[in-house]
Amino acid sequence: MIVAIDGPAGAGKSTVARHLAERLGFRYLDTGAMYRAVTWLAVERSLELEDGPLLGRLAEEHPVDLDEEGRVTIAETDVTEAIRRAEIDRLVPVVARHPEVRQVMRRRQRVLADLGNAVIEGRDIGTVVAPDAGVKIYLNADPDVRAQRRQAERPDIGGDALATDLRLRDESDAARMRPADDAERIDTTALDVEDVVRRIEFLVRARVG
Ligand code: DC
Repeated sequence: MIVAIDGPAGAGKSTVARHLAERLGFRYLDTGAMYRAVTWLAVERSLELEDGPLLGRLAEEHPVDLDEEGRVTIAETDVTEAIRRAEIDRLVPVVARHPEVRQVMRRRQRVLADLGNAVIEGRDIGTVVAPDAGVKIYLNADPDVRAQRRQAERPDIGGDALATDLRLRDESDAARMRPADDAERIDTTALDVEDVVRRIEFLVRARVG
């Protein structure tokens, strides 16, 4: 079974998805990390980020590897920490919006989804990558709370800059952030991780019977 977890930055997707995968004994797939890794490589090679066909070829030639421990590798480089930098936060929507890049990523994500039992987090999982997912969740939270959560993960950035970045990213990601019609929407503003995980686990177990 596939559990699709979509929603904007700071809604709690990664923490929830990781815990849930552990609880269920499912694989965990962070599709945002794939877009981040390709963005990192494009920046590293000083490529033109507006050039969709070029970036599509880059993604095709350099598959992103995600291991069991959550390490992210591209072009034989471990980029696990580098892809969480503020510069990548800002540039990843520019790269992720190219259809040529998305096509390559989605194809790989579907192959990984087809291996079965996985919690997959992203923006378009329940709508495009895995529309047949057994359970679809759309996480959201109040923008201020989302900015605070991001701040805790990015102590190097000022609060105002971070809130602005988040807003710009929301606008740019918006086209890909439509919740699936059949997604269960959970507002995590006032919930802790354990509450959210328990609620989704309940849905998965009910579904499995
Ligand atoms: O979840 P995240 O912040 O690591 O995602 C990084 C970026 O990648 C985000 O700006 C949107 C994009 N993304 C996407 O377009 N589609 C996905 N399935 C996952 C992420």
